[in-house]
Amino acid sequence: MGKVALITGITGQDGAYLAEFLIKKGYIVHGIKRRASSFNTSRIDHLYQDPHVEQRNLILHYGDLTDSMNLTRIIGEVKPDEIYNLAAMSHVKVSFDTPEYTANVDGLGTLRILEAVRLLGLIQNTRIYQASTSELYGLVQEVPQKETTPFYPRSPYAVAKMYAYWITVNYREAYGMHASNGILFNHESPLRGETFVTRKVTRAVSRILLGMQDQVFMGNLSSKRDWGHAKDYIKAMYLILQQDAPDDYVIATGVTTTIRDFIRMSFLEVGVEIEFKGVGLEEKGFIAGIKESLFEEKMGVSCLESFKKRLGEVVVRVDSQYFRLTEVELLIGDATKSKTKLGWIPDYDLPLLVKDMMESDIREMKKEAYLKEGGYIILDHFE
Ligand code: NAP
Ligand code: GDD
Repeated sequence: MGKVALITGITGQDGAYLAEFLIKKGYIVHGIKRRASSFNTSRIDHLYQDPHVEQRNLILHYGDLTDSMNLTRIIGEVKPDEIYNLAAMSHVKVSFDTPEYTANVDGLGTLRILEAVRLLGLIQNTRIYQASTSELYGLVQEVPQKETTPFYPRSPYAVAKMYAYWITVNYREAYGMHASNGILFNHESPLRGETFVTRKVTRAVSRILLGMQDQVFMGNLSSKRDWGHAKDYIKAMYLILQQDAPDDYVIATGVTTTIRDFIRMSFLEVGVEIEFKGVGLEEKGFIAGIKESLFEEKMGVSCLESFKKRLGEVVVRVDSQYFRLTEVELLIGDATKSKTKLGWIPDYDLPLLVKDMMESDIREMKKEAYLKEGGYIILDHFE
């Protein structure tokens, strides 16, 4: 019999990759999904099995991190060997609009899971992974940030996650639970939510290249993030729960990049050079050059002919509505402990991540253009 895992937040970016990874390892994976008025399982549809299939390896349960009785019932029925608590209201800016809800889900939600495991008498059977975050470092007290760096959270999201971090440590120390925190720095992928900065950029750049959108409005272009690939980071979650003793680990690449440079890299993927001029709200990104053979290879010849007319135009502008009240300016992690103790080695670096996301979004946007949007790609279609 394979091990049994329970993933909260299975419909999110990390939940989807982790579910696939664990199923390939022979696990039976149970997932908690929220009831929604429209389908919210697109990231895991390829793993879905009809409830009539015997011996399913993916089983979904309706639930919510705000509902203790629901969580306790599911954990009691499933009796998982491992719980990966990934569910959260995970958007930092939105947490300023919904601070109480964020505290309830991201903070108390973790307590509800720990308490359920304790009350059900599963302490010796069930290991728990808590999705902690580099946002805990906030106004950073040390560069780079590691496990011993003091926290200084800068948003309702980060403050809620700080409670979750410490309640996990407390249950480990008080009750001897195998409960661990992964302090994960930003990780992205083609499955990343569309309102996080990397995906917003790769989607918008793809649409601009295809003539489906003129420009994109961004917030703070100067903040720096340590971006890795979600496919690498979910492997670290698994490794953390395979250790004999529970502990807390930083997962990061050790490289930090501005939002501005991420935008440049995304355009450069198809040979478009962007130059930024101006400061603050007046900063703008212009099309400064086009490497035509690369562009043609990736986008097609008629798309190139149309796009060439845009040389010199503004494609990136700043809008203060995307600024944060208290910003986290710089994140860069030191993952030495994870590399030495877990043997965690990432496969992707930032250029590979950008390539993966751009290729995926160009493909997706081309499909959209054919189906309904119009844009330059239609010209290629008729060639
Ligand atoms: P995500 O794509 O936003 O997924 C969040 C998941 O949580 C979704 O499945 C969502 O369900 C679910 N969820 C939200 N509120 C819930 C509630 N009240 N009850 C039950 N489920 C709920 O996030 P992610 O990028 O995969 O991140 C996974 C976890 O790691 C999160 O806890 C996040 O805070 C943390 N984290 C992420 C990063 C990163 O860079 N990605 C870094 C550090 C830590 P719906 O699909 O229905 O919305
Ligand atoms: N979302 C967004 N949209 N961010 C922008 C924009 C924009 O238009 N313009 C600039 N930014 C800046 C933000 O101000 C922030 O400094 C940075 O881009 C990254 O923003 P997000 O991609 O929204 O991620 P985050 O760093 O705030 O939070 C993510 O990473 C955390 C780990 O450090 C989320 O995944 C959190 O759940 C996670 O804990």
